[in-house]
Amino acid sequence: MSRTLVVFGATGDLTRRKLVPALFNLQRKGRLPDDVRIVGFSRSPLSDDEFRGRMAEALVEFAGAPASDTERDRFLGRLHYVAGSVTDDRGMETLAERLDELEGEQCADRLYYLAIAPRFYAPTVARLGAMDMVCDDHGERRVVVEKPFGTDLASARTLNEAIHEVFEERSVYRIDHYLGKETAQNILFTRFANTVFEPLWNRNYIDHVQITVAESVDVDHRAEFYDGTGVVRDMFQNHLLQLLTLVAMEPPSSFDADAVRNEKHKTLAAVRPITSGRLGLDTVRGQYAGYRTNEGVPDDSETATFAALKLEIDNWRWQGVPFYLRSGKALPEKVSEILVQFRCPPHNMFPLPPGATLSSNYLAICIQPDEGMHLRFEAKVPDTVADLQPVDMEFHYRDNFPGVELPEAYERLLLDALHGDPSLFARSDTIERAWSLMDPVVEGWQTDAAPPLEVYEPGDWGPDGAHALMRRDGRRWKRGCRHC
Ligand code: BG6
Repeated sequence: MSRTLVVFGATGDLTRRKLVPALFNLQRKGRLPDDVRIVGFSRSPLSDDEFRGRMAEALVEFAGAPASDTERDRFLGRLHYVAGSVTDDRGMETLAERLDELEGEQCADRLYYLAIAPRFYAPTVARLGAMDMVCDDHGERRVVVEKPFGTDLASARTLNEAIHEVFEERSVYRIDHYLGKETAQNILFTRFANTVFEPLWNRNYIDHVQITVAESVDVDHRAEFYDGTGVVRDMFQNHLLQLLTLVAMEPPSSFDADAVRNEKHKTLAAVRPITSGRLGLDTVRGQYAGYRTNEGVPDDSETATFAALKLEIDNWRWQGVPFYLRSGKALPEKVSEILVQFRCPPHNMFPLPPGATLSSNYLAICIQPDEGMHLRFEAKVPDTVADLQPVDMEFHYRDNFPGVELPEAYERLLLDALHGDPSLFARSDTIERAWSLMDPVVEGWQTDAAPPLEVYEPGDWGPDGAHALMRRDGRRWKRGCRHC
Protein backbone atom coordinates (compact mmCIF):
# COMPACT_ATOMS: atom_id res chain seq x y z
CA MET A 1 0.00 0.00 0.00
CA SER A 2 1.51 3.34 -1.01
CA ARG A 3 0.87 6.71 0.66
CA THR A 4 0.00 10.10 -0.74
CA LEU A 5 0.47 13.32 1.11
CA VAL A 6 -1.69 16.02 -0.45
CA VAL A 7 -0.61 19.49 0.62
CA PHE A 8 -3.26 22.18 0.21
CA GLY A 9 -1.47 25.53 0.14
CA ALA A 10 1.59 24.09 -1.56
CA THR A 11 3.06 27.42 -2.61
CA GLY A 12 2.63 28.98 0.84
CA ASP A 13 5.19 29.80 3.48
CA LEU A 14 4.46 26.85 5.74
CA THR A 15 5.08 24.35 2.94
CA ARG A 16 8.32 26.02 1.91
CA ARG A 17 9.76 26.70 5.33
CA LYS A 18 8.57 23.74 7.36
CA LEU A 19 6.80 20.89 5.58
CA VAL A 20 9.03 20.26 2.59
CA PRO A 21 12.30 20.63 4.56
CA ALA A 22 10.93 18.32 7.26
CA LEU A 23 9.93 15.69 4.70
CA PHE A 24 13.32 15.93 3.06
CA ASN A 25 15.10 15.51 6.39
CA LEU A 26 12.97 12.46 7.10
CA GLN A 27 14.08 10.98 3.79
CA ARG A 28 17.72 11.78 4.57
CA LYS A 29 17.40 9.90 7.85
CA GLY A 30 15.83 6.94 6.04
CA ARG A 31 12.47 7.44 7.80
CA LEU A 32 10.29 8.52 4.92
CA PRO A 33 9.00 5.32 3.33
CA ASP A 34 9.92 5.00 -0.36
CA ASP A 35 6.29 4.69 -1.30
CA VAL A 36 5.35 8.18 -0.07
CA ARG A 37 4.47 10.63 -2.83
CA ILE A 38 3.74 14.30 -2.23
CA VAL A 39 1.15 16.17 -4.24
CA GLY A 40 1.05 19.95 -3.91
CA PHE A 41 -2.19 21.79 -4.61
CA SER A 42 -2.42 25.56 -4.93
CA ARG A 43 -3.80 28.26 -7.17
CA SER A 44 -0.56 29.26 -8.92
CA PRO A 45 -0.39 27.72 -12.39
CA LEU A 46 2.82 25.67 -12.09
CA SER A 47 4.00 22.53 -13.80
CA ASP A 48 5.45 19.64 -11.80
CA ASP A 49 8.92 20.80 -12.74
CA GLU A 50 8.32 24.39 -11.76
CA PHE A 51 7.01 23.27 -8.40
CA ARG A 52 10.02 21.01 -7.94
CA GLY A 53 12.29 23.95 -8.79
CA ARG A 54 10.69 26.09 -6.10
CA MET A 55 10.94 23.34 -3.54
CA ALA A 56 14.58 22.74 -4.45
CA GLU A 57 15.22 26.37 -3.49
CA ALA A 58 13.32 25.87 -0.24
CA LEU A 59 15.58 22.93 0.60
CA VAL A 60 18.68 25.04 0.12
CA GLU A 61 17.25 27.75 2.33
CA PHE A 62 15.58 25.76 5.08
CA ALA A 63 16.68 22.11 5.16
CA GLY A 64 19.90 22.46 7.10
CA ALA A 65 22.98 20.53 5.98
CA PRO A 66 23.63 20.37 2.23
CA ALA A 67 22.63 17.12 0.58
CA SER A 68 23.96 15.20 -2.39
CA ASP A 69 22.33 15.79 -5.78
CA THR A 70 21.15 12.17 -5.83
CA GLU A 71 19.43 12.51 -2.48
CA ARG A 72 17.83 15.79 -3.51
CA ASP A 73 16.68 14.49 -6.90
CA ARG A 74 15.23 11.38 -5.30
CA PHE A 75 13.19 13.64 -3.06
CA LEU A 76 12.11 16.02 -5.80
CA GLY A 77 11.00 12.99 -7.81
CA ARG A 78 8.35 12.36 -5.17
CA LEU A 79 6.79 15.78 -5.78
CA HIS A 80 3.84 16.45 -8.07
CA TYR A 81 1.69 19.51 -8.50
CA VAL A 82 -1.91 20.27 -9.35
CA ALA A 83 -3.10 23.85 -9.91
CA GLY A 84 -6.53 24.72 -8.61
CA SER A 85 -8.56 26.35 -5.92
CA VAL A 86 -10.16 24.68 -2.93
CA THR A 87 -13.22 26.83 -3.56
CA ASP A 88 -13.80 25.51 -7.01
CA ASP A 89 -15.10 22.07 -8.04
CA ARG A 90 -13.10 21.98 -11.24
CA GLY A 91 -9.77 22.28 -9.41
CA MET A 92 -10.73 19.55 -6.97
CA GLU A 93 -11.86 17.30 -9.80
CA THR A 94 -8.50 17.73 -11.48
CA LEU A 95 -6.85 16.88 -8.16
CA ALA A 96 -8.99 13.77 -7.73
CA GLU A 97 -8.15 12.60 -11.26
CA ARG A 98 -4.44 13.20 -10.75
CA LEU A 99 -4.45 11.32 -7.46
CA ASP A 100 -6.19 8.34 -9.07
CA GLU A 101 -3.69 8.42 -11.91
CA LEU A 102 -0.68 8.53 -9.57
CA GLU A 103 -2.01 5.87 -7.23
CA GLY A 104 -3.16 3.58 -10.05
CA GLU A 105 -5.32 0.60 -9.29
CA GLN A 106 -3.70 -0.07 -5.96
CA CYS A 107 -4.97 1.01 -2.58
CA ALA A 108 -3.18 4.04 -1.14
CA ASP A 109 -3.49 5.83 2.20
CA ARG A 110 -4.01 9.54 1.82
CA LEU A 111 -3.13 12.35 4.16
CA TYR A 112 -4.71 15.69 3.32
CA TYR A 113 -2.69 18.50 4.85
CA LEU A 114 -4.51 21.84 5.19
CA ALA A 115 -1.68 24.37 5.02
CA ILE A 116 -4.16 27.03 3.95
CA ALA A 117 -5.87 30.02 5.54
CA PRO A 118 -8.20 28.86 8.34
CA ARG A 119 -11.32 30.20 6.61
CA PHE A 120 -10.80 27.52 3.96
CA TYR A 121 -10.57 24.55 6.38
CA ALA A 122 -14.29 23.78 6.52
CA PRO A 123 -15.04 24.36 2.81
CA THR A 124 -12.07 22.22 1.77
CA VAL A 125 -13.09 19.35 4.01
CA ALA A 126 -16.69 19.65 2.76
CA ARG A 127 -15.48 19.45 -0.84
CA LEU A 128 -13.33 16.43 -0.10
CA GLY A 129 -16.45 14.80 1.30
CA ALA A 130 -18.73 15.88 -1.53
CA MET A 131 -16.29 14.60 -4.14
CA ASP A 132 -16.00 11.22 -2.49
CA MET A 133 -12.32 11.75 -1.74
CA VAL A 134 -12.54 10.49 1.84
CA CYS A 135 -13.96 7.06 1.24
CA ASP A 136 -11.74 4.54 3.07
CA ASP A 137 -12.37 1.70 0.58
CA HIS A 138 -9.06 2.22 -1.20
CA GLY A 139 -6.92 3.07 1.81
CA GLU A 140 -7.19 5.27 4.88
CA ARG A 141 -8.04 8.95 4.55
CA ARG A 142 -6.76 11.37 7.18
CA VAL A 143 -6.67 15.13 7.48
CA VAL A 144 -4.12 17.37 9.17
CA VAL A 145 -5.40 20.74 10.34
CA GLU A 146 -2.98 23.53 11.15
CA LYS A 147 -3.42 26.01 13.95
CA PRO A 148 -5.32 28.20 14.66
CA PHE A 149 -8.15 25.76 15.22
CA GLY A 150 -10.96 28.28 15.68
CA THR A 151 -10.76 31.65 17.32
CA ASP A 152 -12.99 30.84 20.28
CA LEU A 153 -15.06 27.98 21.63
CA ALA A 154 -18.00 28.59 19.30
CA SER A 155 -15.90 28.67 16.13
CA ALA A 156 -13.81 25.66 17.23
CA ARG A 157 -17.04 23.71 17.82
CA THR A 158 -18.41 24.72 14.44
CA LEU A 159 -15.16 23.66 12.78
CA ASN A 160 -15.12 20.35 14.65
CA GLU A 161 -18.69 19.70 13.56
CA ALA A 162 -17.88 20.53 9.95
CA ILE A 163 -14.87 18.21 9.99
CA HIS A 164 -16.78 15.43 11.74
CA GLU A 165 -19.39 15.54 8.95
CA VAL A 166 -16.69 14.12 6.72
CA PHE A 167 -13.94 12.55 8.86
CA GLU A 168 -14.19 10.48 12.01
CA GLU A 169 -12.29 11.92 14.96
CA ARG A 170 -9.64 9.18 14.73
CA SER A 171 -8.71 10.50 11.26
CA VAL A 172 -8.31 14.16 12.31
CA TYR A 173 -4.82 15.40 13.20
CA ARG A 174 -4.81 18.90 14.73
CA ILE A 175 -1.31 20.30 14.84
CA ASP A 176 0.25 22.00 17.83
CA HIS A 177 3.91 22.09 16.86
CA TYR A 178 4.95 22.41 20.52
CA LEU A 179 3.91 18.78 20.99
CA GLY A 180 6.38 17.77 18.31
CA LYS A 181 9.30 19.39 20.11
CA GLU A 182 11.70 16.83 21.49
CA THR A 183 11.91 18.51 24.88
CA ALA A 184 8.13 18.71 25.26
CA GLN A 185 7.91 14.99 24.54
CA ASN A 186 10.65 14.37 27.06
CA ILE A 187 8.51 15.75 29.90
CA LEU A 188 6.48 12.54 29.96
CA PHE A 189 9.64 10.43 29.85
CA THR A 190 11.22 12.38 32.69
CA ARG A 191 8.14 12.02 34.82
CA PHE A 192 7.08 8.47 34.05
CA ALA A 193 10.26 6.60 33.07
CA ASN A 194 11.90 7.49 36.40
CA THR A 195 11.02 7.06 40.02
CA VAL A 196 12.81 10.06 41.50
CA PHE A 197 10.46 12.80 40.37
CA GLU A 198 6.96 11.37 40.55
CA PRO A 199 6.74 10.88 44.35
CA LEU A 200 7.51 14.60 44.76
CA TRP A 201 5.30 15.75 41.88
CA ASN A 202 2.34 17.01 43.86
CA ARG A 203 1.03 19.64 46.27
CA ASN A 204 2.98 18.19 49.20
CA TYR A 205 6.36 19.08 47.68
CA ILE A 206 5.72 21.51 44.84
CA ASP A 207 5.16 25.15 45.73
CA HIS A 208 4.22 26.38 42.26
CA VAL A 209 5.00 25.98 38.55
CA GLN A 210 6.06 28.66 36.07
CA ILE A 211 5.76 28.32 32.32
CA THR A 212 7.53 30.93 30.20
CA VAL A 213 7.37 31.07 26.41
CA ALA A 214 9.21 34.25 25.48
CA GLU A 215 10.08 35.60 22.06
CA SER A 216 12.50 38.40 21.28
CA VAL A 217 10.93 39.10 17.88
CA ASP A 218 8.09 41.57 17.56
CA VAL A 219 5.04 41.00 15.39
CA ASP A 220 6.73 42.46 12.33
CA HIS A 221 5.08 41.56 9.01
CA ARG A 222 2.37 39.51 10.77
CA ALA A 223 0.96 42.64 12.46
CA GLU A 224 -2.33 42.67 10.61
CA PHE A 225 -3.07 39.02 11.38
CA TYR A 226 -1.74 39.35 14.90
CA ASP A 227 -3.88 42.34 15.77
CA GLY A 228 -7.02 40.26 15.34
CA THR A 229 -5.52 37.44 17.40
CA GLY A 230 -3.37 38.59 20.31
CA VAL A 231 -1.12 36.56 22.54
CA VAL A 232 -3.78 34.56 24.38
CA ARG A 233 -5.25 33.05 21.24
CA ASP A 234 -1.89 32.80 19.51
CA MET A 235 0.13 31.15 22.30
CA PHE A 236 -1.86 30.31 25.44
CA GLN A 237 -4.87 28.45 24.08
CA ASN A 238 -2.53 25.98 22.41
CA HIS A 239 1.17 25.88 23.25
CA LEU A 240 1.16 27.00 26.89
CA LEU A 241 -1.87 24.95 27.88
CA GLN A 242 -0.37 21.91 26.18
CA LEU A 243 2.84 22.34 28.17
CA LEU A 244 0.78 22.70 31.33
CA THR A 245 -1.01 19.41 30.68
CA LEU A 246 2.29 17.60 30.17
CA VAL A 247 3.54 18.82 33.54
CA ALA A 248 0.29 18.30 35.40
CA MET A 249 -1.34 15.17 33.91
CA GLU A 250 -1.72 11.88 35.76
CA PRO A 251 0.35 8.90 34.54
CA PRO A 252 -1.45 7.19 31.66
CA SER A 253 -1.64 3.41 31.81
CA SER A 254 0.16 3.09 28.48
CA PHE A 255 1.77 5.10 25.72
CA ASP A 256 -1.27 4.51 23.58
CA ALA A 257 -2.75 7.66 21.98
CA ASP A 258 -6.11 7.31 23.72
CA ALA A 259 -4.59 6.66 27.12
CA VAL A 260 -2.30 9.68 26.88
CA ARG A 261 -4.89 12.01 25.43
CA ASN A 262 -7.53 10.99 27.99
CA GLU A 263 -5.23 12.01 30.83
CA LYS A 264 -4.35 15.26 29.15
CA HIS A 265 -7.98 16.07 28.69
CA LYS A 266 -8.81 15.26 32.31
CA THR A 267 -6.13 17.70 33.42
CA LEU A 268 -7.45 20.57 31.33
CA ALA A 269 -10.95 19.74 32.49
CA ALA A 270 -9.75 20.30 36.07
CA VAL A 271 -8.23 23.71 35.37
CA ARG A 272 -10.39 26.33 37.05
CA PRO A 273 -11.73 28.92 34.59
CA ILE A 274 -10.79 32.49 35.49
CA THR A 275 -13.94 34.32 36.51
CA SER A 276 -14.64 37.92 35.65
CA GLY A 277 -14.12 38.88 39.30
CA ARG A 278 -10.55 37.47 39.21
CA LEU A 279 -9.45 38.97 35.91
CA GLY A 280 -7.81 41.94 37.61
CA LEU A 281 -5.95 39.65 40.03
CA ASP A 282 -5.00 36.61 37.98
CA THR A 283 -4.38 38.08 34.53
CA VAL A 284 -2.01 40.71 33.19
CA ARG A 285 -2.09 42.13 29.68
CA GLY A 286 0.68 44.12 28.07
CA GLN A 287 1.53 45.69 24.74
CA TYR A 288 5.06 46.61 23.74
CA ALA A 289 5.76 50.27 23.05
CA GLY A 290 5.66 50.89 19.31
CA TYR A 291 3.27 48.04 18.51
CA ARG A 292 0.62 50.45 17.24
CA THR A 293 2.97 51.90 14.65
CA ASN A 294 3.02 48.60 12.72
CA GLU A 295 1.29 48.69 9.37
CA GLY A 296 -2.23 47.35 9.66
CA VAL A 297 -2.52 48.04 13.40
CA PRO A 298 -5.05 50.71 14.44
CA ASP A 299 -3.73 53.63 16.51
CA ASP A 300 -5.93 52.63 19.41
CA SER A 301 -5.36 48.85 19.25
CA GLU A 302 -5.88 47.12 22.59
CA THR A 303 -4.35 43.84 21.40
CA ALA A 304 -2.11 42.23 24.00
CA THR A 305 1.35 41.19 22.86
CA PHE A 306 2.16 39.91 26.36
CA ALA A 307 0.09 38.10 28.94
CA ALA A 308 0.63 36.50 32.31
CA LEU A 309 -1.99 34.25 33.87
CA LYS A 310 -2.32 32.46 37.17
CA LEU A 311 -4.19 29.19 36.85
CA GLU A 312 -5.29 26.69 39.49
CA ILE A 313 -6.03 23.02 38.98
CA ASP A 314 -8.89 21.62 41.02
CA ASN A 315 -7.82 18.06 41.66
CA TRP A 316 -6.23 16.04 44.45
CA ARG A 317 -2.68 16.38 43.17
CA TRP A 318 -2.58 20.11 42.49
CA GLN A 319 -5.02 21.77 44.87
CA GLY A 320 -3.45 25.04 46.02
CA VAL A 321 -0.45 24.88 43.63
CA PRO A 322 -0.59 27.87 41.27
CA PHE A 323 0.57 27.57 37.68
CA TYR A 324 1.91 30.91 36.43
CA LEU A 325 2.06 31.24 32.65
CA ARG A 326 3.62 34.08 30.69
CA SER A 327 4.31 34.69 27.03
CA GLY A 328 5.01 37.69 24.87
CA LYS A 329 6.70 39.28 21.91
CA ALA A 330 9.60 41.76 22.04
CA LEU A 331 10.97 40.24 25.27
CA PRO A 332 14.71 40.08 26.03
CA GLU A 333 15.30 36.64 24.51
CA LYS A 334 13.70 33.66 22.84
CA VAL A 335 13.28 31.03 25.50
CA SER A 336 10.69 28.46 26.50
CA GLU A 337 11.04 26.85 29.88
CA ILE A 338 9.06 25.28 32.68
CA LEU A 339 10.18 25.82 36.23
CA VAL A 340 8.88 23.46 38.89
CA GLN A 341 9.54 25.15 42.22
CA PHE A 342 9.68 22.85 45.22
CA ARG A 343 8.72 23.90 48.74
CA CYS A 344 11.25 25.23 51.22
CA PRO A 345 12.62 22.73 53.74
CA PRO A 346 10.24 22.68 56.71
CA HIS A 347 12.99 23.39 59.24
CA ASN A 348 16.44 24.91 59.10
CA MET A 349 19.09 23.28 61.28
CA PHE A 350 22.05 25.27 59.88
CA PRO A 351 23.58 28.39 61.43
CA LEU A 352 22.76 30.79 58.61
CA PRO A 353 23.77 34.45 58.79
CA PRO A 354 21.04 36.68 60.21
CA GLY A 355 18.19 37.20 57.74
CA ALA A 356 19.35 34.41 55.41
CA THR A 357 17.02 31.54 54.53
CA LEU A 358 17.47 28.26 52.76
CA SER A 359 16.56 28.62 49.12
CA SER A 360 14.20 26.05 47.72
CA ASN A 361 14.96 23.56 45.00
CA TYR A 362 13.65 23.73 41.49
CA LEU A 363 13.65 21.66 38.36
CA ALA A 364 13.93 23.79 35.22
CA ILE A 365 12.88 22.08 32.01
CA CYS A 366 14.46 23.91 29.09
CA ILE A 367 12.23 23.44 26.06
CA GLN A 368 14.34 25.74 23.85
CA PRO A 369 16.78 27.02 22.77
CA ASP A 370 19.37 25.06 24.74
CA GLU A 371 17.42 21.91 25.39
CA GLY A 372 17.93 20.16 28.70
CA MET A 373 17.20 20.37 32.42
CA HIS A 374 18.60 21.94 35.55
CA LEU A 375 17.98 20.63 39.03
CA ARG A 376 18.84 23.31 41.54
CA PHE A 377 19.75 22.37 45.11
CA GLU A 378 21.80 23.65 48.03
CA ALA A 379 25.41 22.55 48.57
CA LYS A 380 27.91 23.26 51.30
CA VAL A 381 30.62 25.68 50.22
CA PRO A 382 33.95 23.89 50.70
CA ASP A 383 36.21 24.97 53.51
CA THR A 384 33.46 26.74 55.42
CA VAL A 385 31.62 25.57 58.51
CA ALA A 386 28.12 25.81 57.14
CA ASP A 387 27.94 28.20 54.21
CA LEU A 388 25.46 27.16 51.58
CA GLN A 389 25.30 27.87 47.89
CA PRO A 390 22.74 26.81 45.29
CA VAL A 391 24.24 24.57 42.59
CA ASP A 392 22.81 22.94 39.46
CA MET A 393 22.79 19.38 38.27
CA GLU A 394 22.47 19.73 34.52
CA PHE A 395 21.43 17.64 31.59
CA HIS A 396 21.90 18.94 28.05
CA TYR A 397 20.96 17.10 24.92
CA ARG A 398 24.05 18.42 23.15
CA ASP A 399 26.35 16.86 25.79
CA ASN A 400 24.58 13.58 26.36
CA PHE A 401 23.75 12.92 22.73
CA PRO A 402 26.69 14.49 20.91
CA GLY A 403 26.25 14.61 17.17
CA VAL A 404 22.51 14.01 17.36
CA GLU A 405 20.73 16.97 15.87
CA LEU A 406 17.38 17.66 17.50
CA PRO A 407 14.74 17.27 14.82
CA GLU A 408 12.31 19.98 13.80
CA ALA A 409 8.91 19.42 15.40
CA TYR A 410 7.32 18.96 11.98
CA GLU A 411 9.45 15.92 11.19
CA ARG A 412 7.96 13.88 13.98
CA LEU A 413 4.44 15.20 13.47
CA LEU A 414 4.41 14.50 9.74
CA LEU A 415 5.76 11.02 10.22
CA ASP A 416 3.21 10.21 12.93
CA ALA A 417 0.37 11.51 10.77
CA LEU A 418 1.61 9.42 7.82
CA HIS A 419 1.78 6.34 10.05
CA GLY A 420 -1.59 7.04 11.66
CA ASP A 421 -0.44 7.76 15.22
CA PRO A 422 -2.43 10.67 16.69
CA SER A 423 -0.73 10.75 20.14
CA LEU A 424 0.94 14.10 19.58
CA PHE A 425 -2.11 15.78 18.06
CA ALA A 426 -4.86 17.65 19.85
CA ARG A 427 -8.24 15.98 20.20
CA SER A 428 -11.50 17.83 19.56
CA ASP A 429 -12.65 17.79 23.21
CA THR A 430 -9.29 19.07 24.46
CA ILE A 431 -9.17 21.89 21.90
CA GLU A 432 -12.66 22.93 22.93
CA ARG A 433 -11.78 22.78 26.62
CA ALA A 434 -8.71 24.96 25.99
CA TRP A 435 -10.92 27.54 24.31
CA SER A 436 -13.43 27.43 27.12
CA LEU A 437 -10.58 28.30 29.50
CA MET A 438 -9.21 31.13 27.37
CA ASP A 439 -12.49 32.66 26.12
CA PRO A 440 -13.28 34.24 29.53
CA VAL A 441 -9.87 35.92 29.42
CA VAL A 442 -10.08 37.18 25.83
CA GLU A 443 -13.70 38.26 26.22
CA GLY A 444 -13.26 39.55 29.77
CA TRP A 445 -10.46 41.80 28.57
CA GLN A 446 -13.04 43.64 26.49
CA THR A 447 -15.13 44.49 29.56
CA ASP A 448 -14.77 46.81 32.55
CA ALA A 449 -13.41 43.91 34.59
CA ALA A 450 -10.22 43.86 32.48
CA PRO A 451 -6.88 44.70 34.03
CA PRO A 452 -5.30 47.79 32.47
CA LEU A 453 -3.41 47.29 29.22
CA GLU A 454 0.15 48.04 30.36
CA VAL A 455 2.80 49.22 27.96
CA TYR A 456 6.25 47.64 28.24
CA GLU A 457 9.48 48.55 26.55
CA PRO A 458 10.74 46.11 23.90
CA GLY A 459 13.48 44.11 25.57
CA ASP A 460 11.81 44.14 29.01
CA TRP A 461 10.31 41.07 30.64
CA GLY A 462 6.77 42.35 30.08
CA PRO A 463 4.97 45.04 32.07
CA ASP A 464 5.24 45.72 35.82
CA GLY A 465 1.92 43.98 36.38
CA ALA A 466 3.54 40.64 35.52
CA HIS A 467 5.97 41.06 38.40
CA ALA A 468 3.25 42.39 40.70
CA LEU A 469 1.21 39.24 40.00
CA MET A 470 4.04 37.16 41.48
CA ARG A 471 4.90 39.59 44.26
CA ARG A 472 1.33 39.47 45.57
CA ASP A 473 1.89 35.75 46.16
CA GLY A 474 5.35 36.28 47.67
CA ARG A 475 7.04 34.86 44.56
CA ARG A 476 9.01 36.03 41.55
CA TRP A 477 9.59 34.95 37.99
CA LYS A 478 12.76 32.92 37.62
CA ARG A 479 14.93 31.74 34.78
CA GLY A 480 16.25 28.30 35.63
CA CYS A 481 17.89 27.61 32.28
CA ARG A 482 19.90 30.80 32.35
CA HIS A 483 23.22 28.95 32.40
CA CYS A 484 22.42 26.69 29.46
C1 BG6 B 1 3.23 30.04 16.57
C2 BG6 B 1 2.71 31.44 16.81
O1 BG6 B 1 2.23 29.10 16.81
O2 BG6 B 1 4.33 29.80 17.44
C3 BG6 B 1 3.81 32.46 16.60
O3 BG6 B 1 1.65 31.70 15.92
C4 BG6 B 1 5.04 32.11 17.41
O4 BG6 B 1 3.36 33.77 16.92
C5 BG6 B 1 5.43 30.66 17.23
O5 BG6 B 1 6.08 32.97 17.00
C6 BG6 B 1 6.51 30.27 18.22
O6 BG6 B 1 6.97 28.98 17.91
P1 BG6 B 1 8.45 28.54 18.29
O7 BG6 B 1 8.52 27.11 17.91
O8 BG6 B 1 9.37 29.41 17.50
O9 BG6 B 1 8.59 28.77 19.76
